[in-house]
Amino acid sequence: MVHLDTVQKQISRKPLGAQVNIPPRRMDFDFSKAPINGYANDAYMTTFWAAFSALFPKGESFFVESVRHYRNQIQGDILKAQIAGFIGQEAMHSKEHVSFNKFFAAQGYPMDHLDRDVGNLLSFIQEYAPHRLQLAITVCLEHYTAIIAEYCLKADHMHRLADPEILKIWLWHALEENEHKTVAFDLYQQIGGYYLERSLMMIPTTFTLGFMFLWFHGRLLAHDKRLFSITKNWGGIKHFWGRGGMFQGIVPQLLDFFKPNFHPSQHDTDQLLNEWRERLFGEYGILKNEMNSVNNKKLMN
Ligand SMILES: [Fe+2]
Ligand SMILES: [Fe+2]
Repeated sequence: MVHLDTVQKQISRKPLGAQVNIPPRRMDFDFSKAPINGYANDAYMTTFWAAFSALFPKGESFFVESVRHYRNQIQGDILKAQIAGFIGQEAMHSKEHVSFNKFFAAQGYPMDHLDRDVGNLLSFIQEYAPHRLQLAITVCLEHYTAIIAEYCLKADHMHRLADPEILKIWLWHALEENEHKTVAFDLYQQIGGYYLERSLMMIPTTFTLGFMFLWFHGRLLAHDKRLFSITKNWGGIKHFWGRGGMFQGIVPQLLDFFKPNFHPSQHDTDQLLNEWRERLFGEYGILKNEMNSVNNKKLMN
């Protein structure tokens, strides 16, 4: 028979985030054996993901700072625990994307320059924008990460194109983006954020994100000397931007953000997340060994 105090002790030993289904999972991906063009064996499509990844280390630190600023003003134990989970997960994402970006930098891509540029932009925002607007920007960008992540988890056709090692970081990140997708939104509402502000902020945030992403991708394609080669890039352009592609797929969910009563939980991903927790971390999960090897390393140190 299990005693109540034993169960309570086990629960209290769990990290706060894990108690509300936002567990920070420490990972340590190894890209040393990954192929150079690890997505569809195509440089346009592979650098698309590299440009996306270049945004993350500084971008996710910005998310964390914008949320952490309000940490001591939060009402409610559940939101406090969710914020602890959010901060833990985003910190891990930053760390692993630094290592993913180094993999591209080792091939000569100017990843350091991209990281510096996104860092400069975000430092400027941190210096001049009020804290609530910084959090509103985080809410907008978290909406993007949640809907792109949901699309990616569902997109079997994309999984088949990705190298298995590279696929791991994106599936793990996509799962966790959906686990914590309500956190920044709920905090923003609690500290007095309102509909008009968040929906208006989505417009400059979208333009800036879109411009920055295209600029970054262009610089990576220029490194490959194929920036202006329509014939070489056409397959990739159609894959992401064309009919039935990823961007067309996320538009309906993107527009939901502009509804006055929108909340991220309205995009119900509970079943999807249960399925992917099992596929990634269950008994035969493809990331089970990754988690174990990190835990083993911790024990040896
Ligand atoms: Fe993240
Ligand atoms: Fe996130």
